Amino acid sequence: MSSLPSQLSERVQSVAGIDPEMRPATKPQFGHFQSNVALRLAKQQGKPPRQVAQEIVDKLDVGDLCEPVEIAGPGFLNFRLRADVLAGAVTDQLHDPRAGITPTELPQTVVIDYSAPNAAKQMHVGHLRSTIIGDCFNRVLRAKGHTVIAQNHIGDWGRQFGMLIEQALDEKLDLDSLDLAGAEELYKRANAHLKSDDAFADRARERVVKLQNGDADTRAMWRKMIDLSKAGFNKTYARMGVLLTDADYAGESMYNEMLPQVCDDLEQRGIAKLDQGALVVFVKGFDAPAILRNSQGGYGYDVTDVAAVRYRVDDLEANRLIYVVGSEQTYHFNLIFAVCREAGYLPAWVSAQHVGYGMVLGPDGKKFSTREGTAVHLNDLLDEAEEHAAPEIALAAIKYADLSNSLQKDYVFDPVRMTQTTGDTGPYLQYAHARVSQILRKADAEGLSGDTISVLDEVPEQELALWLTRFGDAVDEVADELTPHKLCTYLYELATKYSTFYENCPVLKSDGDVRTSRLALCATTKRVLATGLDLLGIAAPERM
Ligand code: ARG
Repeated sequence: MSSLPSQLSERVQSVAGIDPEMRPATKPQFGHFQSNVALRLAKQQGKPPRQVAQEIVDKLDVGDLCEPVEIAGPGFLNFRLRADVLAGAVTDQLHDPRAGITPTELPQTVVIDYSAPNAAKQMHVGHLRSTIIGDCFNRVLRAKGHTVIAQNHIGDWGRQFGMLIEQALDEKLDLDSLDLAGAEELYKRANAHLKSDDAFADRARERVVKLQNGDADTRAMWRKMIDLSKAGFNKTYARMGVLLTDADYAGESMYNEMLPQVCDDLEQRGIAKLDQGALVVFVKGFDAPAILRNSQGGYGYDVTDVAAVRYRVDDLEANRLIYVVGSEQTYHFNLIFAVCREAGYLPAWVSAQHVGYGMVLGPDGKKFSTREGTAVHLNDLLDEAEEHAAPEIALAAIKYADLSNSLQKDYVFDPVRMTQTTGDTGPYLQYAHARVSQILRKADAEGLSGDTISVLDEVPEQELALWLTRFGDAVDEVADELTPHKLCTYLYELATKYSTFYENCPVLKSDGDVRTSRLALCATTKRVLATGLDLLGIAAPERM
């Protein structure tokens, strides 16, 4: 069943013929919803707006949902839901295991490409945002009943492995005892070595060829580097409480064998052309071509992503592709999508979307980096937040800061502000949840509970009830538009409305049906807060 506001909206639309654009009423005395549909129709038809409004009201059959509809001012329609209808809707929501989220009628298979750190390097702050945002999309789309396949497109292939392996051999390093931080140090030493020693550079190049040709010893060492990298990433994922598992790793190396085939296919069909020895695809509207194979016969980032699109559509049977990667790669993805559309790898019924995001800035307002000017490690960031709060709260602080602004915006990493339990922060929402849990615990200790909302006489009760019923619509919006900040805003408003209710309407000190009803409102608030926080990947503690 769709939510009360959408049911109402549909009814008005069927009479008016156009979208009534229902808005929440600006003041409680105007009811719950307002529409200017009559004013818009009147303009079209050249009739007096109040007359058009009256015609709509006469035809409208909403008595089962609303009090008699009022015509206000120049011809606004004011709707007030019947208290019993609102109470019934919230009671249903309390008992709905989905807390009012309606499953989609068109379930899709959605591939989300996110996190995607690079082997032999620790995850840095750029991967933090991708991981948190992708995790939220994953949770929201699953909650709507879609099949979500996470693809962690880690950078596990490329020329850097030549120098890494040579350096490890030179140092007689035991790869079995190396961890990710150690691998990153090795990376730095190998890089320095490469720049200062031409013979080493030659050996590194030869090693790349061996790796590509499948030399067993080389492959074994490469495999160890990948495994230790994954072990390091997994530790961070566990610490972050995200859904990613080993099954989601689908790194660049996975596409190796498909690359020659993709090149042949596109060359034979005249989509790719040789240009100064390289195989490239020029697409209208793009300044630079996609490079499938360079003049030395090497494959790179572009062709790997073309193969990945093909695999995701053909083998994973995706209807929708989402890439959560920093905004600096917008050009790359637009180009890849265009190539794949032209090649028929991305048919019209499959949507492909790159969701970029802004940078994390330091307290100085500049791109967040270490004193040495390198990218900050994700683990250091978590450590820093944990200096100000317990792990569960620190994590909530970071995730909420990441999700509560429109994704394209840069945001300042300010652990002091982010971890506060007042204001628009993750910990504030956790605190609201802990507070309502405490009241329910107290009630329970006194043998009291409420599972039916029956009385909604006070304005704060009505406002809270009405807001609770909008949860499903808020989640729908986030699922359609991929805008987590709207869910944050919804939950923040919920916490605020709950506070007002709690300050004005005694719960445990009231009696009878009023008390039962208020306890049920508390229980529904708890459920919606917990469900909503979970969609953001944030824990909802019982106590704080
Ligand atoms: N490993 C890349 C990076 O760190 C991100 C990969 C994103 N996904 C993709 N399919 N290209 O920048």
